[in-house]
Amino acid sequence: MHPEFPLADDIVHLNHAGVAPWPRRTIETITRFAQENMRYGTRYYARWLETEAHLREQLRWLINAPSAEDIALLKNTSEGLSMVAYGIDWRQGDNVVTARQEFPSNRIVWESLRDRFGIEVRLADLSAGDTPEDSLLACMDEHTRLLSISSVQYASGVRMDLFRIGEACRACDALFCVDAIQSLGAVPFDVQACGADFVVADGHKWMLGPEGVALFYCKAGRRDGLRLSQFGWHMVQHHNNYDRMDWAPADSARRFECGSQNNMGIHALSASLDLIRETGIDVIYTEVSNRVAYVQDCVAALGLAAVTPRASGRRAGIVTFRHPHRDSRELYKSLQTAGVLCAQRGSGIRFSPHFYTPWEGLDRALRVLARTPS
Ligand SMILES: Cc1ncc(COP(=O)(O)O)c(C=O)c1O
Repeated sequence: MHPEFPLADDIVHLNHAGVAPWPRRTIETITRFAQENMRYGTRYYARWLETEAHLREQLRWLINAPSAEDIALLKNTSEGLSMVAYGIDWRQGDNVVTARQEFPSNRIVWESLRDRFGIEVRLADLSAGDTPEDSLLACMDEHTRLLSISSVQYASGVRMDLFRIGEACRACDALFCVDAIQSLGAVPFDVQACGADFVVADGHKWMLGPEGVALFYCKAGRRDGLRLSQFGWHMVQHHNNYDRMDWAPADSARRFECGSQNNMGIHALSASLDLIRETGIDVIYTEVSNRVAYVQDCVAALGLAAVTPRASGRRAGIVTFRHPHRDSRELYKSLQTAGVLCAQRGSGIRFSPHFYTPWEGLDRALRVLARTPS
């Protein structure tokens, strides 16, 4: 068992694509934070702000952003997507391209624009073309203002070729928005290489943080182009001068943060990202990949149907499969009863192990599948 994850003996946690457990150090950090608050109130507030600055730098590192000034801390992925959707100065006839298999947030946000701005939302069927990118890019034309896609599909686990999509967006002069929640913390990510204009991701999955603190990256050159829809004391350039009557949005991405920050969440996510950085993202990726490949091999040997592709470049931390004859709900119930935390997605079962997941835990989960009569 990994010392940072002393999970109860009767639990096998294969749901990092849902909500991850927190590492030991994260629990200790927020316990210290809470105790400090109880004893000293805000005496050490200046240090809390240092943690906030440190978190921005950690997130900058995680996506290889040019500057920590490009990072805003929002409350969740949906808020970041909405910030983009309601910030763009839409033109008559614009369309947005995304996919019908997307997580609801990355569809509903765009669909909400139809009534307000008359935007056409084009939902590609990622399984229709030779590759998911072919299907997506076939929906683009000269009126495509923005393409928004998850780096890894939440249900099928398909990993998208962001470099190819980014190139196509640049060629069409379309904005490129990436929901990276199913990648960050498990898979290397380089925002400069893929050329995304916006990247959003809540911290509670592969980053091993709590729910309610999210990364919002906005490319520096796009910042002024996003109309702001939330206002308050915190988003202005001189936010510490309450007497000043004139104001302008902060030059940095702080302009997207209207009010007080989530200090407890910031402490927690920062501690979790310390573990990720210490372990190394390449090491994590290798460990995650090995576990996913192992599950894929075993599941195939049991005669279950793979939903997630086997090719290493096409998958990340998610492995989804179906029983050829049995309803996934039954299979899911058996897994739950055996203490296996996983999810029912894409009409199959989704396992999502992280780098520390004990191999014997995987075997326990696989034994439940093996016991299920075909
Ligand atoms: C692809 C994707 N985007 C977003 C979310 C969650 O969105 P939010 O952070 O707004 O809760 C999930 C959660 O399952 C997801 O899989």
